[in-house]
Amino acid sequence: MQAQRSVVMVKPDGLQRGLVGEIISRFERKGLKLVGIKMLQLTDEVLEHWYAHHKGKPFFPRLVSFMKVAPVVAMLWEGLDCVQTVRMLTGITKAREAEAGSIRGDLAVSQQLNLIHASDSIEMAQKEEKLIFSREEIFEYKKDIEVFVYSEEERE
Ligand code: CMP
Repeated sequence: MQAQRSVVMVKPDGLQRGLVGEIISRFERKGLKLVGIKMLQLTDEVLEHWYAHHKGKPFFPRLVSFMKVAPVVAMLWEGLDCVQTVRMLTGITKAREAEAGSIRGDLAVSQQLNLIHASDSIEMAQKEEKLIFSREEIFEYKKDIEVFVYSEEERE
């Protein structure tokens, strides 16, 4: 299987609202494989790289300070076409307009406090993975259940 990996980060609002378990559960129930997870306090240095593409936008300073008000929980999920699947489960940025059934659509109403970050492309996922996870923090393991999650063709 040509598996992709995607970085999901539960933002400070998700942690404060006690939604970490619910968020993990949504990705688990979908059938994605958890290959890395940790809690961390973001710093200006990491955020400068993490949000480099938002630098200069009016909301950037507030976004950076918000992401430091509490720790975050970073996860690495793996699966076939994982980046797109995670984005679909996440919903659009403006949470109050996100589709019902998505994490943001069901659990949030704000544009800034939208609970989680999800990698928006394969390239960004690779960049974010390197920024947050060391090699020892990424786990390769077999999940026997995958024969009931993907077809034989999809597993090849
Ligand atoms: P995300 O898409 O994960 O990454 C960029 C973040 O910036 C976004 O989630 C929101 O948390 C925040 N953001 C994007 N647009 C705005 C906005 N117009 N006002 C405030 N925050 C925003």
